[in-house]
Amino acid sequence: MPAKTYDTIAGLRGALYARRAAGAGLSVGFVPTMGALHEGHVSLVRRAVSENDITVVSIFLNPLQFDESADLDSYPKTLDADVRLCGEAGADLIFCPSVREVYPDGASTRVEMDGPTDVLCGKSRPRHFSGVLTVVSKLFHIVEPDAAYFGEKDAQQLAVIRKLVRDLNMPVTIVGCPTVREADGLAMSSRNTHLNADERKAATCLFRALAAAREKLGDAAARSGAPRGEGEWASLAAKVADAARAVLDAEPLARTEYVELLDAETLAPLNDSSKAALCAIAVQIGQTRLIDNMRFSLDG
Ligand code: PAJ
Repeated sequence: MPAKTYDTIAGLRGALYARRAAGAGLSVGFVPTMGALHEGHVSLVRRAVSENDITVVSIFLNPLQFDESADLDSYPKTLDADVRLCGEAGADLIFCPSVREVYPDGASTRVEMDGPTDVLCGKSRPRHFSGVLTVVSKLFHIVEPDAAYFGEKDAQQLAVIRKLVRDLNMPVTIVGCPTVREADGLAMSSRNTHLNADERKAATCLFRALAAAREKLGDAAARSGAPRGEGEWASLAAKVADAARAVLDAEPLARTEYVELLDAETLAPLNDSSKAALCAIAVQIGQTRLIDNMRFSLDG
């Protein structure tokens, strides 16, 4: 059955009410997106479909989370193909509202967070995470899902949304889904379509840098065991980040914005109670900003 599309909040809520009324205890899975869908998004939709009775996908290019209007204007828009892909993946309902429907005149409430929003991408994009938190909170209120699916590709976003749900007692389970990559390791992203042939080749440096970080972390652990105390953790994090940075520096088309190794849950510096480390990278290649990350367990 093809997915049904709704562009008003009232329309979507009516459809969801009718579907929920059809059976007691039907679960709703939700996948928020900004469109220009690729296999990464589709993997989230398939997971939601496999774990829930009803799956809702939102396609909304959220102006609030773009610090630069050029980035918003150039964002690829492929609504017809998106709707088809969602239907093929088994989604039931698609919510594709206008900006005016989501932010009617006078809407001025924003969701703000201290801490994990201030590091990594938050440093260069000061309004970005408030924009994400605001729209995701609104979408959760509109859809009222039991579970919502997010990609590990955007690890900082995932960490921030997990904290939002904890901090504000939102009754939704957040499910993190693995990053889907091209054959050469490049993480799928709607922005990859902006890369020309040379830039596309250069873009493999992100995955190669993460592989170098993984190797360095493995070597360091084998040589000196688990670090103890702030100083040892900081020195390990610097060594691992340097190994990744060397790979990025060797790529002439890449300009590194950041390379960091942080606590994967809190995005604070690594410490004795860290269970996993996140190596996160942001790189500018031509006009395109790409991010990627890898998570390393610190158990054992
Ligand atoms: P968007 O960039 O469209 O991504 C939608 C979801 O797809 C996010 O959870 C993202 O992490 C996931 N995703 C993107 N590329 C992926 C890949 N290669 N593998 C696995 N998952 C991938 O993220 C947003 O939209 C917005 O910020 C949003 C949460 C919708 C709020 O506006």
